[in-house]
Amino acid sequence: MKRFGLIGYPLDHSFSKKYFTEKFKAEGLEDHSFELYPLNQIIEFPYLLEQDPALIGLAVTIPYKESVIDYLDQLSPEAQAIGAVNCISFHDHRTIGYNTDSIGFERSLLPLIDLEKINKALVLGSGGASKAVHFILNKLKIECKIVSRKNDKRFMLYEQINAEILKTFNIIINTTPLGMYPHTELYPFFPYEHLNESHLVYDLIYNPDQTLFLQKARSGGARIKNGYEMLIIQAEENWKIWNTKQ
Ligand SMILES: NC(=O)c1ccc[n+]([C@@H]2O[C@H](COP(=O)([O-])OP(=O)(O)OC[C@H]3O[C@@H](n4cnc5c(N)ncnc54)[C@H](OP(=O)(O)O)[C@@H]3O)[C@@H](O)[C@H]2O)c1
Repeated sequence: MKRFGLIGYPLDHSFSKKYFTEKFKAEGLEDHSFELYPLNQIIEFPYLLEQDPALIGLAVTIPYKESVIDYLDQLSPEAQAIGAVNCISFHDHRTIGYNTDSIGFERSLLPLIDLEKINKALVLGSGGASKAVHFILNKLKIECKIVSRKNDKRFMLYEQINAEILKTFNIIINTTPLGMYPHTELYPFFPYEHLNESHLVYDLIYNPDQTLFLQKARSGGARIKNGYEMLIIQAEENWKIWNTKQ
């Protein structure tokens, strides 16, 4: 048996198990399985590895993309630079961490933007996904400001976003979990009334299709994008990594 899986907490509404189970069936991979491993705390991670020697690869989701790094033997250069891991492979009893969220974000964003015009981004949230997004925006030379609830000089506070700021920042990316199923009534604190046709508003959330954040942005005329394409790209990149001999 070749086992793959997902660690995170909670995992009740995971996309990955359904996606990979259907993929294995479609490709006739009967000796492959994809399991959910909800961990109450990341300190349970080493025990999971000991208990299941058939494990070949793991995906990592909220809230462990950063804390899992301390438990890994090696990081890819991108995961090292980003400081977050969403994919782990196992080779010769060694664990290697990768970041494929960044690839998913970059490939799903590029067709939507003209780099001459889209050049300043506000990124809501400062967690694991935010770090991957920040890495790609830097790579594309898009100026980027992280918006956080934390009063920290590296970040902007939500209360500071105003009409003036939204005249120059023309891409807004939500990397917070606000609005994600089942809490679909939630949305980030944001001056939506100042959004217009000049803005691209990207929500990393893929369930529901259109969060309240995207609905509010669209009603002001902004172009919108959800996280579904990013999710599919990162899942396929994980699959490539799990199938590559190191
Ligand atoms: N489409 C995809 O492929 C894809 C890939 C990765 C992630 N995602 C989605 O992105 C979201 C974040 O994932 P993650 O792994 O980055 O999670 P995470 O590491 O827990 O970070 C989420 C960040 O959101 C902010 N936040 C959390 N709760 C909040 C609240 N109640 N109000 C305002 N801000 C809040 C926090 O930033 P501050 O403390 O700085 O405010 C936190 O660091 C999830 O919805 C996940 O499903 C989608």
